[in-house]
Amino acid sequence: MTNLIDGRAIAAQIQGELAVRVADLKRRGIVPGLAFVRVGEDPASKVYVGRKEKACAELGIVSETHVLPAETAEAELLALLARLNATGHLHGILVQAPLPKQIRESVVFATVLPSKDVDGFHPVNVGKLMLGDDSGFRPCTPAGVVELLVRSGVKTDGAEVVVLGRGNIVGKPMAAMLCQKNKHANSTVTICHAATRDIQAHCRRADIIIAAMGVAEFLKADMVKPGAVIMDVGVNRVPDASSKTGTKLVGDVDFKNVQPIAGKITPNPGGVGPMTIAMLLQNTVRAAEKSLT
Ligand code: GUN
Repeated sequence: MTNLIDGRAIAAQIQGELAVRVADLKRRGIVPGLAFVRVGEDPASKVYVGRKEKACAELGIVSETHVLPAETAEAELLALLARLNATGHLHGILVQAPLPKQIRESVVFATVLPSKDVDGFHPVNVGKLMLGDDSGFRPCTPAGVVELLVRSGVKTDGAEVVVLGRGNIVGKPMAAMLCQKNKHANSTVTICHAATRDIQAHCRRADIIIAAMGVAEFLKADMVKPGAVIMDVGVNRVPDASSKTGTKLVGDVDFKNVQPIAGKITPNPGGVGPMTIAMLLQNTVRAAEKSLT
């Protein structure tokens, strides 16, 4: 039996559930609407936004994409966000990160209305997550990891979890979700980062490891307890002489050597990635539903 956690299949299942909710909204005269904002021509961001646009179209969410030049001033982006905040048929707004250096991400994320913040990056939604108040939006990638754990039958209650990485998009919200006192969390969470002493020892103790620090194939087999559950969030481009482009994408986990000893493991690609998109769709449908109340 395979130990792979099939993110594509689980994302498809969630999209099927969301289709029912979108149909229900349509009967009530609402078509969920989502605005994407991309600044500059970062190749990875173009790919990610393209995938999200396609997934919206497939589900019946209407999306529009605003592309601004890399040299856009922060004030200009904030003015666009003010207009999108005020547009009734747009229930969600997503500003793709990373942003060019002259633009402060924290200011941008705080400008999107919390009720349209389907990324879960606004301080109000971050605060609600910390407080265990589920009326806010949760960031898509860590929410997707939780969903994968739940739907794969992984018990988090009382589990030792190591989160590798302390970023605002994955590491910190991931830890906040899994330490909450609820049925699909209740874990003992350790966040490891660049200053952690003896990261190996922390990892070897873990029942669940979530690798999200952005270092290619960092997690090696000798850092993993046999039977541990491994979730790989990493997307790293590395040189590869055998490929036409001269590069390939790898995760934060040395998959070939870790898979044989893992209890369950996400493939990469096909693990966490599709779930980020499924959770964005879920947040957007929820934002549209909330607009009715
Ligand atoms: N960049 C990397 N991940 C994300 C994400 O989940 N949302 C946004 N807006 N930008 C990202």
